[in-house]
Amino acid sequence: MRILVIGSGGREHALVWKIAQSKLADKIFCAPGNGGISKQAECIDIKAEDIAHLLEFAKREKIDLTVVGPEAPLAGGIVDEFNNYKLRIFGPNGKAAQLEASKVFAKELMAKYSVPTAGFKIFDNADEAQKYIELKGAPCVVKADGLAQGKGVIVAKTTDEARQAVSSIMQEKVFGDAGRKVIIEDCLFGEEASIIVLTDSHEVIPLASSQDHKRVFDNDFGPNTGGMGAYSPAPVVTEGLFRKILDDVIRRIIDGLAKEGIGYNGVLYAGIMLTEEGPKVLEFNVRFGDPETQAILPRLKSDLLEVMLAASEEKLNRVKKTGGLNWDARTCVCVVCASGGYPGEYEKGKEILGLEEVEKMQDVVVFHAATRELTNPRTQEPKIVTNGGRVLGVTGLGNTIKEAIEHTYQAIERIHFEGMHYRRDIGQKALFQGRPCS
Ligand code: AMP
Ligand code: GLY
Repeated sequence: MRILVIGSGGREHALVWKIAQSKLADKIFCAPGNGGISKQAECIDIKAEDIAHLLEFAKREKIDLTVVGPEAPLAGGIVDEFNNYKLRIFGPNGKAAQLEASKVFAKELMAKYSVPTAGFKIFDNADEAQKYIELKGAPCVVKADGLAQGKGVIVAKTTDEARQAVSSIMQEKVFGDAGRKVIIEDCLFGEEASIIVLTDSHEVIPLASSQDHKRVFDNDFGPNTGGMGAYSPAPVVTEGLFRKILDDVIRRIIDGLAKEGIGYNGVLYAGIMLTEEGPKVLEFNVRFGDPETQAILPRLKSDLLEVMLAASEEKLNRVKKTGGLNWDARTCVCVVCASGGYPGEYEKGKEILGLEEVEKMQDVVVFHAATRELTNPRTQEPKIVTNGGRVLGVTGLGNTIKEAIEHTYQAIERIHFEGMHYRRDIGQKALFQGRPCS
């Protein structure tokens, strides 16, 4: 089969790496890909948002399955376009992708179908939002409605911070049209976990649980990032909680969408806060998590390509009948190595050293998130350089979380680029928790 993966980050490298292990995969393309992906797939110079050219490419190259990594093309309706030409694609259609692209849509759907989430109010008028903040007080959470590259959520400790958030989103329009409406939410407290499932509207096949680390510095200090590391499984998600989240969140939202006449095919990701009152939804994403995917897929023994094909044909019941997915019982940890300055300003083009040595290590995989291959003008040898904020996802497996952490950090010690920084506490929370569920 000929496969096209869309995207260029660590998540897409993990997808390509896993698909390459399938006996069904003959040829893999990735658009646009990166310096690490190019070892397993042919990278094509088409941007992930350029739906017209991706469609043309898939037609010309007779692609059997397209797998979409990031949210933007999904929200832009790539699945609807491909379906019009009977091209097989794994991902939700444009209407279903609203679940991530519009927080207002997601919140209203959750309220209608009794999916547990933080209390909220929606505003399309800045003055009314400001008055409400005065009335409600702090802490509270201000969210821009639309896609804002992960920056549209402000957890405000004071009313001043909340008012400032409303001004910058609605009046200064820092996120453009994505800030036409805001949501003001109750602030939830607890530990976070990511629950990611594959679905074809009828069946739900869960992936293993995981936990992300969003803040840039150790012990959850500093500004939010795209994710500085993850581990799977997340022991905080016990068997009972896992089941409850599947029933009260995932099933209800998929059935709710169906009642609204919207089918859902692809990946559904629920960001959950495990509060004292039970699990509550922070957000939905309509794609694989990044960097959660890098910590989940090395544990997956089943053929992911086979399952994605089944989902795209609404035949996930076949996978269910054969017992669902098989998992490696070991724990996996992924630590992100970032450019100096990230999540603020940073420089690109720094040579990365040590990758070849790490490739030889057992139970370690390095997923490239933002790298580029260049030819060294002096030696004519190829070299890998940094090409973005989150550069690598160094991933290690271990029989225990402690062992997985050790393997991962042993690998990181061998990698170097100018300005590289990473969190040293990824997985620490899990060290002190009970027995993991799947
Ligand atoms: P989101 O992009 O919606 O996942 O939000 C980013 C982060 O903001 C989440 O991972 C949480 O840490 C935090 N957050 C979002 N909503 C809330 C909430 N209602 N209460 C507390 N923290 C929140
Ligand atoms: N790790 C969070 C996300 O993928 O949105």
